[in-house]
Amino acid sequence: MSMTDLPSPGHEAVSAYLDGGYASVVGMSSRFAAAICARLLRLQSEEGIAGSIAEIGCFEGRFFIALAHALEPGELAIGVDIFSWPNPEVKDRFEANCLRHGIAPERRVTVQGDSGAMTAEELMAHAGGERLRLIHIDGEHSRAALAKDLELATQCLSEGGLIVLDDMLHPGYPTLMVAVQAYLEAHPEIVPLCVIDRETIVGATKFVLCQRDWFERYQAKMLVIFKEQIWPLGADFEPHWCLVLSQDTRLAEIV
Ligand SMILES: C[S@@+](CC[C@H](N)C(=O)[O-])C[C@H]1O[C@@H](n2cnc3c(N)ncnc32)[C@H](O)[C@@H]1O
Repeated sequence: MSMTDLPSPGHEAVSAYLDGGYASVVGMSSRFAAAICARLLRLQSEEGIAGSIAEIGCFEGRFFIALAHALEPGELAIGVDIFSWPNPEVKDRFEANCLRHGIAPERRVTVQGDSGAMTAEELMAHAGGERLRLIHIDGEHSRAALAKDLELATQCLSEGGLIVLDDMLHPGYPTLMVAVQAYLEAHPEIVPLCVIDRETIVGATKFVLCQRDWFERYQAKMLVIFKEQIWPLGADFEPHWCLVLSQDTRLAEIV
């Protein structure tokens, strides 16, 4: 049996937040996925990819704060949400959580709105008109909404940027995968970079997508960085294959 702990997120501030504050912020994403995505942001910095990031569906800030701590000076974290569920005070809780866990107001932008009605220009305007190096999509969980969010993210994506999709393969949202498949067929320039396995039913699986031209470059580094988290068989996206990162890298015992 091979069970791995969290990979190093590559930033002391992220590690401190994942060890301390993460569980105290109400939210749904897994610590494992937060550590992986923070390390991917670090890898981008090492590869010379700079810029701001956005999360669609930032809710109370659990995952957002981890990503924001992984940014370099001058880069912004943009949190988009309709901020109406479960009550309008969720926006105040988001901003208070950011402050409490070390993300000062000048390092982030709060955007209250429906991502499905947002243009790429409107979203990028919050980053000074620049493209974004990572977009985490965790907003409305319908096929139609995910399709729109994917198009928005694609239009905002910088060279070498990453799109992260939450709640993939979640038993409660089986049709989201249909939207992803249709998107991948319509966008051959984008491929899955890795699957981040679920921690629990709440901390569900994420897919990370990248531009096809960047796939090999990312994967070569990730094979080293995440060597303890690689599930040996990988993910078959027919015909594209990518890494599966998991805290449980066992294979079925067949003899
Ligand atoms: C599952 S929660 C996100 C959890 C959060 N990312 C975390 O890691 O803790 C989904 C969020 O998406 C927001 N949302 C739903 N539809 C949206 C839309 N059309 N535009 C923006 N946000 C939306 C909801 O208000 C809710 O806060």
